Amino acid sequence: MITFDYTNVLESAVGVHGIPESSFAAAAGAAQRAIDAVEAAHKAGKLAFGTLPLTEKPVKDVLAFAREHAFRNILILGIGGSALGPASLEAALMRPNASKRLIVLDNIDPDFIAGSLEALNPEDTFVNVIAKSGVTAETMATFAIVRKWMTDALGPARIRDHFAVTTDPERGDLLAIARDEKFPIFEIPPNIGGRFSVLTPVGTLPAALLGLDVEALMRGAASTAEQSRKTFTENPAVVAAFVQWILDHQFRKPVLVLFPYSQSLWKFAFWFKQLWGESLGKKFDRRKREVHCGQTPTAALGVTDQHSQLQLFIEGPNDKSFLFWAVREFKDRLPIAHPYQSFDSMRYLEGRTMAELFTAERQATEMAITEAGRPNSTVTIDRIDAESVGSLIMFAQYMTAYAGEFYDIDAFEQPGVEYGKKLTFCLMDRPGFEEHRGKIEAEQRKVRKIVR
Ligand code: PA5
Repeated sequence: MITFDYTNVLESAVGVHGIPESSFAAAAGAAQRAIDAVEAAHKAGKLAFGTLPLTEKPVKDVLAFAREHAFRNILILGIGGSALGPASLEAALMRPNASKRLIVLDNIDPDFIAGSLEALNPEDTFVNVIAKSGVTAETMATFAIVRKWMTDALGPARIRDHFAVTTDPERGDLLAIARDEKFPIFEIPPNIGGRFSVLTPVGTLPAALLGLDVEALMRGAASTAEQSRKTFTENPAVVAAFVQWILDHQFRKPVLVLFPYSQSLWKFAFWFKQLWGESLGKKFDRRKREVHCGQTPTAALGVTDQHSQLQLFIEGPNDKSFLFWAVREFKDRLPIAHPYQSFDSMRYLEGRTMAELFTAERQATEMAITEAGRPNSTVTIDRIDAESVGSLIMFAQYMTAYAGEFYDIDAFEQPGVEYGKKLTFCLMDRPGFEEHRGKIEAEQRKVRKIVR
């Protein structure tokens, strides 16, 4: 079960940088309106991320498909919401010595792509091309390269057994290509945006191909979706959203540091950065007022970043709020036994566990940050398994959707990202994007200021 501890965002804990308890009582009405709005959007079919775990067929389909497609390497071609989710699931839930592995070609650095393909045997590789829009330049270009790589190795007749496409069921060139090639197609429902798609086949197909427990993932997500529809005082996602919104809005905390104390959740921090940053970073609010809102998400890893960023966090500018992700129980507590009893720096560790030390370090960091007057809160999940990870995913998605309501913006569009895609198309001479040519030529005419 997910819990959200917000003790250390309160004025009573961090002084003038903290939220007075009375603000929570005052926010009850706005919180309920946020809950109702997200629920209404689900009922109207405009949103679907919260109801995905209740739809059984897509899960059955990916599991059935995975049973018939056993490959050592699962190669994902996708970017953003079409890559970060499956990459995070793999990082969280696969043991390092697993017999299968996931390779994600999201970046298009040519050396990275070439080097990754060089290390793979096409015979033992299954390729999942993922793009909601079905046109993203990075994914389509990598697809072209990987298709040739596979065809050169196996011949055109055999590649069909090595590809599946995950995309929108109604539009996009990738859909048309997949139909033409007779590649299996998995659907991203039209009412699910890229960064909210990890519980569609975007995440569940790679997870199933890796042998992860997709049903448990959905079970965890379902129970947190239910918890996230409750009223303010019993709803961790809406309280967490309110906390971040008011810290940004009234207490000048424009930076959110996500601080997982779990190596397994580190990739999820990158998934969360996209979710939070792209959903809430908006120029206009719903009333078309120019607001330029959104917290800048960044990430730190416990304990690693205690020895890197923590000094800045404690003594640098007080412009950040901190969100710890903690784990209640570890799979391996890892007892510390050693022969160095005569050394003070080792003696106290005898008979203790690495889990205890890890937890103590998190508590110490929380205390130091609190003492320095920096608001911080903690989300705790039971353990690192599919069910808890499903729960965390759903919590983060609802938290983001509710934050969108507090900011009064559309959290589900990304005009900035789309604009960047259009400029790329124009720069690469894709027909239909000529309207941007003037700006590109102006940029190219600029006298560059270059130091040599
Ligand atoms: O959240 C989003 O919609 C975007 O960040 C997309 O995930 C990203 O741009 C990739 O898009 P697509 O899946 O269409 O290739």
